[in-house]
Amino acid sequence: MSILKELINDLKENVKKAGYEVETLAIEPSNRRDLGEYQLNDAMQLARTYHENPREIATKIAAVLETDDRFENINIAGPGFINISLSEKYATEIINRMNQDLFSNIDKKEKKKVIIDYGGANVAKALHVGHLRSANIGEAIKRLAKTLGYEVLGDAHLGDYGRPLGLVVLEIQKMYPELPYFDPDYSGNFEELTLPITNEDLEKIYPLASQKAKEDEAYLEEGRIVTTKIQKHERGYYDLWKKVVEISKEDIKKVYDMLHTEFELWLGESDAAAYFDELYKIFDSKGLLVDSQGAKIVELSEEEDKAPIPPLLFVKSNGTMSYETTDLATILQRKKDFNPDEMWYVVDNRQGLHFEQIFRATRKAQLVDDKVALEHIGFGTMNGKDGKPFKTRDGGVMSLKGLIELVKEETLKRINPETVPEDEKDSVATDVAIAALKYADFLPYRETDYVFEVEKFADLEGKTGPYLLYSTIRMKSLLKKAEGIDAKEAKVLPGETEKNIVLTLLELPNVLNKSLESRSLNDIAEYLFNLTSYYNKFYAENKVLTEENKDLQESWIVLTETVYKVNSMLLDILGIKVPEKM
Ligand code: ARG
Repeated sequence: MSILKELINDLKENVKKAGYEVETLAIEPSNRRDLGEYQLNDAMQLARTYHENPREIATKIAAVLETDDRFENINIAGPGFINISLSEKYATEIINRMNQDLFSNIDKKEKKKVIIDYGGANVAKALHVGHLRSANIGEAIKRLAKTLGYEVLGDAHLGDYGRPLGLVVLEIQKMYPELPYFDPDYSGNFEELTLPITNEDLEKIYPLASQKAKEDEAYLEEGRIVTTKIQKHERGYYDLWKKVVEISKEDIKKVYDMLHTEFELWLGESDAAAYFDELYKIFDSKGLLVDSQGAKIVELSEEEDKAPIPPLLFVKSNGTMSYETTDLATILQRKKDFNPDEMWYVVDNRQGLHFEQIFRATRKAQLVDDKVALEHIGFGTMNGKDGKPFKTRDGGVMSLKGLIELVKEETLKRINPETVPEDEKDSVATDVAIAALKYADFLPYRETDYVFEVEKFADLEGKTGPYLLYSTIRMKSLLKKAEGIDAKEAKVLPGETEKNIVLTLLELPNVLNKSLESRSLNDIAEYLFNLTSYYNKFYAENKVLTEENKDLQESWIVLTETVYKVNSMLLDILGIKVPEKM
């Protein structure tokens, strides 16, 4: 149990000893630190229940608190607010306990199985800025939920299905008509063939094909035919599609690796296709499919709707699955394969209506038990200085790799050549760039749009990823230098800054819970900054390595160790890697 919760329980006991029963008791961090570190406001409520004067009640409770050596500076303010502070002895106990086991100050949640869908990269297309936020937020929420005791599975849910892939295969056919994939008489093994195409080629082929399809109806029609061939697993076309997916996936994996984003499942939209027939039967047998101009749709509107919800396109007029159907079939698949308690989708807010439709259709067809929660965890956009979604200088969609390069240009300038050897510079600059990007992405509440400001994100000072990395590396290096000193436990912590660190450490479980509940990392991001700033203040005020008072020195080292552990844990939750040097 977290320390504050334990403390609250003990305070309840103290109140009981004073002769009063309280069901819940709240201690608020005080904003008048000269009066006390925490405030207890329960005397007011008790006064109503017991028909007594609140100040008298407060006086009796305070008298009991005086006998508890964890508290000091106990005083009563106004009509009956009790102010308390934590004793130095208790502060050292807190540090020692957390240093031994951080989880002794974390409240675990009841175990739940959750599938988190937060990839969404599209095969044969470059990842873009939108995918960055899914990856950042999704990975961090996943790690947070796992830390708090959930069983979590992250799925990449690659966009590997549908017309874009048909167009890519068609364009490859136009470029290399002689490839065996298009030769009906070819009898060899397709898997042994190598394609004369790299991922960079693929990223150029799709925009080209998509442009042609826009300008040329006949080309578009050919693309549709190829798409259907792939979806029907037609020999040659299907095999080429598999090859394209393989090449592209390898590159997608590299980008996710760079972002420290690790999926447990690498499934894609195409994997849900096997569930399409079953899905169709369920919707059809429940009478949910309506004919509409050769297509099949599902009506979703309900009387209470304030804004109209358009029907869901279930089967397109050419007989193929829509984006919506791939998501519905995936729900069926996830239920069968994993039977989760919850399914979360970390996807851009601009797909809000899509998920509203999917969730409604799922409930209508009762694809999953009513108890299974479906949640769209939406987020805002990263904008340019013009307030519009971030673009390249010439107005195009910014690829994720391009964006990382842009930040890396800045972080490279700030790498210390005295500590980082030349041959490690590049990889360190990449880690720092990812930290800069990720931290800036987490600072605002997830649904808030924010502006991309590379100099600000990469700054070594201020609320930035690089500042946190730099400070955490410094803690680690201090601990390394102190290795020869036998520091086992904190014994004294006299300073005010040390106390602020302890009080901040006590907040850790609340911050983790709050972040999980809001599905937003902003509280953790702020907390990391506050804790690190307090620590840096402490670092500036004291000379740990040369301190002559051994008890004090030992206590400071243990304090440093504890903060270092918390920082490491939180940065890891955020998917931010701490390099050895920078
Ligand atoms: N591939 C889609 C895109 O790039 C995102 C997929 C989001 N996840 C989902 N289950 N629909 O827009």
